[in-house]
Amino acid sequence: MELYEAIEKRRIVRDFENKIVSDEILEKIINAGLKAPTHDHLRNWEFVIIKDKEDKENVLKFGKQGVEPTLEILKQTLEDGTLQQKMYAIAMPRQYSMLYNASHIILPFFKSNAKVMKPVSVSSLNPFASIWCVIQNIFLSATAEGLACSMRIPVGEEGLNVAKIVNAPSNYLLSCYIGLGYPACDNQVVEQVNYNAKQKMHFGKW
Ligand SMILES: Cc1cc2nc3c(=O)[nH]c(=O)nc-3n(C[C@H](O)[C@H](O)[C@H](O)COP(=O)(O)O)c2cc1C
Repeated sequence: MELYEAIEKRRIVRDFENKIVSDEILEKIINAGLKAPTHDHLRNWEFVIIKDKEDKENVLKFGKQGVEPTLEILKQTLEDGTLQQKMYAIAMPRQYSMLYNASHIILPFFKSNAKVMKPVSVSSLNPFASIWCVIQNIFLSATAEGLACSMRIPVGEEGLNVAKIVNAPSNYLLSCYIGLGYPACDNQVVEQVNYNAKQKMHFGKW
């Protein structure tokens, strides 16, 4: 798939087919992640890959509570919410299933230092910024392979708890959970707010 087509087609998907991604494709996608730009030439990234049901249950148990809004609110929001509210209404009830039902859960870890959590300038966030370049490469290469990704940000102590359970060293932080798989045919596509370059460019001055 051509690059611009992959950029255009990439979407966060939250419903997957019950189909396993091959090890070969998985490796290709992680390799694409490893080609991302990195601060200080470090590439201090590690990936824990979760495939078995029991292991999935184990890593997902910390984020399970508090994500199920009541059906009434959901129905109402899907009817008359803004596009962003509709995205929430589709996403929130799927925070567990969009990872559990994915073929694989990828846990991208990045080596962190104390400055990341107490930034004094934008550059303190370099390790965090670098892992997000990796994540975008993963999203795009998954799209190029006809696959899709879901993604959840760990909240509160969730990331630390997951890191402990998968034996990650204490100087590595979990950036997010990525679900990787084949998108379901009836996958609910969230309408987008579309922007174009002309609306966002400021030549010379804002
Ligand atoms: C930093 C960041 C955090 C996000 N957190 C979540 C999340 O916790 N759960 C979720 O379902 N989607 C999450 N998303 C996905 C967004 O909802 C999604 O990217 C947005 O609705 C635009 O849709 P698209 O990616 O399909 O274009 C996150 C995206 C980003 C970039």
